[in-house]
Amino acid sequence: LSSAEFQRRLLAWFDAHGRKRLPWQQDKSPYRVWVSEIMLQQTQVATVIPYYERFMARFPTVEALAEAPQDEVLHLWTGLGYYARARNLHKAAREVVSEHDGDFPVHSLDAMAALPGIGRSTAGAIIAISTGRRAVILDGNVKRSLTRLHALPGWPGRSAVERHLWALAEHYTPEARLPDYTQAMMDLGATLCRRGQPECGRCPFDDVCLAHARGEERRFPEAKPK
Ligand code: ADE
Repeated sequence: LSSAEFQRRLLAWFDAHGRKRLPWQQDKSPYRVWVSEIMLQQTQVATVIPYYERFMARFPTVEALAEAPQDEVLHLWTGLGYYARARNLHKAAREVVSEHDGDFPVHSLDAMAALPGIGRSTAGAIIAISTGRRAVILDGNVKRSLTRLHALPGWPGRSAVERHLWALAEHYTPEARLPDYTQAMMDLGATLCRRGQPECGRCPFDDVCLAHARGEERRFPEAKPK
């Protein structure tokens, strides 16, 4: 499948079925996109929405978040779980204010990925969604879709497998429509190419997916070897 054809199919699916009216898809500033990506890392969209709205009402800017006491940040996080995310969020807000004059360093993938709680994929997602510049993502959802599409063997935690996945993610990433493409990749894995019971019948890649052709969607990605 050529990258142009991959992009064409994915974006057509997104235009018809993607989520476009979520709170963090309005006014896509780096700050708003960052908070949403951290909340969405281990939590589903429907759960995140009310937390996100309360959080933004209380901390509308990175300065407001940086100035808040940590227990207030943790209080607004209560129920979302994985509290290291909230502590890192607070620490990163203070760094953005003290080291970057209150502006997220979206011109640099490395500077973004150096902030607490932001890995390479989240840094790419924030840059692509908030600036529209080309940046590559590879989160758990994207890893699952790409491993299935290519029936890629091996555990994705192995560095050789992970390198291969980054190369595939890089290959498919377009030059245009980065916010939609990035959201579409995450939505595909979250809504159709799920770990259990993938909905291959609705997938724009059902006729080219190697795992599906073999009837082995559930075998990919492979588990960590014992
Ligand atoms: N998981 C991480 N980021 C996400 C996003 N923007 N949409 C849906 N799921 C996600």
